[in-house]
Amino acid sequence: MEKQIQETTNLADLQALYTSVFGKNGTMTAKLRQMATLDNDARAKLNNENTRLRELFRVRQAEIENAEMMANLKKQKLDATLSPLPENRGTLHPLTHSLHEISTILESFGYTMWTGPEIEDDWHNFTALNTPAHHPARDMQDTFFMPNGNVLRTQTSAIQIRAMETHGVPIKMFGIGSTYRKEMDATHSPMFHQIEGLYVDKNITMSDLIGDVKEFLKRFFEMDDVKIRIRPSYFPFTEPSIEIDMLWQGKKWLEIMGAGMVHPNVLANCGINPNEYQGFAFGFGWDRLAMLKYNLNDIRKFYDGDVRWLKNAGF
Ligand code: DAH
Repeated sequence: MEKQIQETTNLADLQALYTSVFGKNGTMTAKLRQMATLDNDARAKLNNENTRLRELFRVRQAEIENAEMMANLKKQKLDATLSPLPENRGTLHPLTHSLHEISTILESFGYTMWTGPEIEDDWHNFTALNTPAHHPARDMQDTFFMPNGNVLRTQTSAIQIRAMETHGVPIKMFGIGSTYRKEMDATHSPMFHQIEGLYVDKNITMSDLIGDVKEFLKRFFEMDDVKIRIRPSYFPFTEPSIEIDMLWQGKKWLEIMGAGMVHPNVLANCGINPNEYQGFAFGFGWDRLAMLKYNLNDIRKFYDGDVRWLKNAGF
């Protein structure tokens, strides 16, 4: 049997030989069926024989496969000019990418990056922002409450409070982070991202705000010039409050951000004397800006983790 195995030169023959030994009607199978009738020595012998034969088959199979592979390789010509398969490299997520762009611009203007907790207390998310309990402006944001009265941060404005409380004035900062509201459609996700800017010093005016915002938009969208439109608005934490629209591709006015001069109550809440200091704040949807820049239309896709979508979006 050993010789027979050694002399087999292809897998089909080897398989046939294997079946004749170990198959249902194989010679070894028949012997093994008799195992119970044998004495101990004969059993041990049979077991050894069984193991040895299986091993011989296994080794011969590997030898034949190897020989076939070598023969195939000899037949193939190597084309050294063939391009390698494309390498699958990871890239930055569009939001991370846009954050790098946004923060690079703001930092070049002298703003410093801040973050804050996503589970926020009532004081930082609302009350210090001149939105005490029962203030009707709380209705503007569909809030997720924690059982202990804390909230999932509805706005990065909470970060400006933390920054003023801990750093004091003068201060020029921007806060970034996830924000949460109970809403969901193609342009709203229950978790989204905001960026908040704040500049408080002794002589800060609305024109400083408009100058920074215009320059920021110009650089972020890589435009030679940007046309903006300013509409009066209402936010409890700014007075006056405005909304800033940008003319998009020469055709459409798009609402880009809320902003205004920091309300004196907000400064006072952070221990800053509003008779001495004043400043501006602005806040915008970071996802929304990224969607505009990269021409994406469904905010929810940012969070699906679908590599095909990310590739399609150019990332
Ligand atoms: N927190 C506002 C919102 O989520 C956005 C905002 C508006 C932020 C005006 C500001 C601001 O800092 O001055 O709707």
